[in-house]
Amino acid sequence: MSTDTQVVFSDATIRRFDREVAKYPDEQRQSAVMACLAIIQQERGHVSLAAEASLAEYLRMETIAVHEVTTFYNMYNQQPVGRFKLNVCTNLPCQLRDGAHALHHLESRLGISMGETTADGMFTLQQSECLGACADSPVMLVNDRHMCSFMSNDKLDQLIEGLRASEGQP
Ligand code: FES
Repeated sequence: MSTDTQVVFSDATIRRFDREVAKYPDEQRQSAVMACLAIIQQERGHVSLAAEASLAEYLRMETIAVHEVTTFYNMYNQQPVGRFKLNVCTNLPCQLRDGAHALHHLESRLGISMGETTADGMFTLQQSECLGACADSPVMLVNDRHMCSFMSNDKLDQLIEGLRASEGQP
């Protein structure tokens, strides 16, 4: 893991970190790591290795420990993503109920493979681990927040059209 450079967080960002750290005893300031990573992602769109290194220094913890958190949860983007991040659950229960079929439909519909972003920067397509809604398969998350259930091909098409329309695209 190369962390040749670090980023310089703005004073406003540091104040946001400080508010999270203040929720814990000082010797447990590392407990704020997830909240601080979420702030970085909110402000920068993704969490780079350089940002991890800077956050580690701020929280007085090892950079690898921050990296372990970033890589454990797929809500943290390690690379820039599109305006809409689509995470389709492909864990085993969903695989048995068309999870992979939904993913392949989106690949075909968007003209990209899993893990890629459309050329217009609109959509990033990813797999996800179990979203806790196996009975609603196929299920997916939009931008880590909005759960979509029973995603048939028709519903997937409607979702893509709706998201495009929300951005003023045909
Ligand atoms: Fe897909 Fe549980 S396996 S929601």
